[in-house]
Amino acid sequence: MEEAKINVLTAEIVKNEQITKDTWQMTLDPGFDFDVTNISPGQFVCLQPLASDSVMARPFSVSMISTFNCTFDILYRTVGKNTLQMRQLVKGQSIKFWGPLGNSEIIDPSPYEEVWLIGGGIGIAPLLFFEKVITEYQDHRARVFYGGKDINEMMNLDLITPEPVEIATEDGTLGFKGFITDLFSERIIMRLGKILVITCGPSPMMKKVAEICEQNNVDCYVILEKIMACGICVCLGCSIKTTQGMKRICHDGPIFNAKEVIWNELG
Ligand SMILES: Cc1cc2nc3c(=O)[nH]c(=O)nc-3n(C[C@H](O)[C@H](O)[C@H](O)COP(=O)(O)OP(=O)(O)OC[C@H]3O[C@@H](n4cnc5c(N)ncnc54)[C@H](O)[C@@H]3O)c2cc1C
Ligand code: FES
Repeated sequence: MEEAKINVLTAEIVKNEQITKDTWQMTLDPGFDFDVTNISPGQFVCLQPLASDSVMARPFSVSMISTFNCTFDILYRTVGKNTLQMRQLVKGQSIKFWGPLGNSEIIDPSPYEEVWLIGGGIGIAPLLFFEKVITEYQDHRARVFYGGKDINEMMNLDLITPEPVEIATEDGTLGFKGFITDLFSERIIMRLGKILVITCGPSPMMKKVAEICEQNNVDCYVILEKIMACGICVCLGCSIKTTQGMKRICHDGPIFNAKEVIWNELG
């Protein structure tokens, strides 16, 4: 079995700002030894506060890079021990990290007219980086859909991406009223040309996006998540059964062709 070597690095916190009730944006400067241009959209890093007494670092998708400042960003929701510690960190402090981890560059947008990025909740994080690469570096067209429960949960993406974003909230307090998958299924029938869909968010949402894509004969990739102990192919804790056999999300993923995913095996 091919195992990634772990190279624990330290990054300086450039920014750690609250952007919604429970979401923070952290900008990290990994120093000269680390080239942020080696990070591809969909990849993640494992982070661990220096003062953490937890044995496990935690995985977070890279949500943006700055080639100018040589920094990378993550967006994180505070849900437990590590993320609560992370939100206490201030500019100038350091954090342990390793990565980038996960598969990369398996998605070629060139055969498609547009790439549609469908994010639910914090699942929007890796899609913002995809959008930047697709539009700026690959000179391709991208369209972003972002859904959540209500206005309080939604990030102001105008501050993060200059591109227009189509928004849905379940209670209608922002944008379209309903699930983001309802908005997506309305839009997909009006598509012009061949599109590619990439989605990240809660499993039921991604499953629905994958079903809509299949019904409309549209290619779809999903970015999967599972609780990870090592992030480097050692513990097998992130193994899932796919139509192509057993796969590890930390190594073979987190990006998978939706056709490979057996949704009721994800747990
Ligand atoms: C590849 C990958 C990329 C991720 N990217 C992001 C990101 O960009 N932003 C972000 O906010 N989170 C992301 N996550 C989830 C993030 O890793 C967890 O929220 C984090 O590990 C929680 O750590 P904690 O110590 O604060 O919480 P814990 O105390 O470990 O857990 C608190 C609660 O969250 C649940 N939980 C923990 N990890 C996960 C998980 N992976 N999936 C579902 N539930 C979980 C636990 O079961 C528990 O109920 C990603 C996970 C993976 C696998
Ligand atoms: S997280 Fe340990 S093998 Fe994937």
